[in-house]
Amino acid sequence: MSRVIKLAVIPGDGIGPEVVGEAEKVLDAVTAASDVTFDKARFSLGAARYLETGDTLTDDDLAAIATQDAILLGAVGGVPGDPRLKDANIERGLLLKLRFSLDHYVNLRPSKLYPGAPGPLAEPGEIDFVVVREGTEGPYVGNGGSIRTGTAHEVANETSVNTAFGIERVVRYAFEVAQKRRKKVTLVHKTNVLVHAGGMWKRIVDAVASEHPDVTVDYVHIDAATIYLVTNPGRFDVIVTDNLFGDILTDLAGAVTGGIGLAASGNINPDGAFPSMFEPVHGSAPDIAGQQKADPTAAILSVALMLDHLGLSGEAARVTRAVEEDIAHRGSTPRTTAQVGDAIAAAVQA
Ligand code: NAI
Ligand code: MG
Repeated sequence: MSRVIKLAVIPGDGIGPEVVGEAEKVLDAVTAASDVTFDKARFSLGAARYLETGDTLTDDDLAAIATQDAILLGAVGGVPGDPRLKDANIERGLLLKLRFSLDHYVNLRPSKLYPGAPGPLAEPGEIDFVVVREGTEGPYVGNGGSIRTGTAHEVANETSVNTAFGIERVVRYAFEVAQKRRKKVTLVHKTNVLVHAGGMWKRIVDAVASEHPDVTVDYVHIDAATIYLVTNPGRFDVIVTDNLFGDILTDLAGAVTGGIGLAASGNINPDGAFPSMFEPVHGSAPDIAGQQKADPTAAILSVALMLDHLGLSGEAARVTRAVEEDIAHRGSTPRTTAQVGDAIAAAVQA
């Protein structure tokens, strides 16, 4: 039986359209001979759209996106510091608005050091872990304000919101991921100082752990986690953590596993009430935009995550294998964005 999947494509700004073009090429190649069709709807969102129309994400955009089955996003944002974008607030008004409105409570970021990938660690050992970052709570909810702003007496509050409901659902997801992997969950937090939120995270992890006696559970403070990610990344399988710690940790994770050109992510609504969104971790890279210098691999690996989420695990595995092959045989000769995409698209069909 043929299956039609409605896909929202948001190429965005800068290198976004370049890397999304290659990701679509690979998606088309891997589904060419199958009975799955992606019915694509394009949304022009980001800094360029803001400069043109003055809006970031309208209610109509959001409603149209919410009816899709999945979202593929490149990157959004203009040149940092561009005065014309001072009031645009692309991060909060677009990216975070999508994540919150579509209840993307899991931010999934796999970190694997592929053979042949360049990395900054002298002796990395095997690196293959997944960060499950909470996506809808923590200090990123916008629960704050400031008074006497701009004066010497300014007061600014940014309250971290943590709910038992929100923690439990993401922790359960992390244990399910671990069940399919090496069966180890590490909670990363700062329970010794953030005793209220940290204490609740710890108690909920312990409670869910009791339902998974075959999963090993570990706890590491956020500061120590940054050390282990560099000195002994092999100790991690699944890391579960809050929104802020996860944001920081995943950038470091990307850095030790071959850099920003390879890091993929999924903003997932596991309940399926809303479409999940898949995107490379990197931004719009205005410094190299339009020059065919961007590595599209992170966007292509985001397609693999999307295929897996949609239950197309065979297709997902073919994309991952093709990427793995490509990375293993990357020499030092520079290739254009399109050349990398072409090579991987050809490999998924081979
Ligand atoms: P960035 O990730 O765009 O660039 C950082 C550095 O990495 C630059 O030197 C860039 O050339 C390089 N780089 C990034 N992606 C690459 C790729 N695929 N291949 C090769 N090199 C790559 O971060 P930056 O410069 O802080 O932000 C630029 C814009 O992107 C800003 O407007 C920012 O707000 C936005 N941004 C958007 C994100 C998103 O859409 N999810 C995430 C991060 C930043
Ligand atoms: Mg970040």
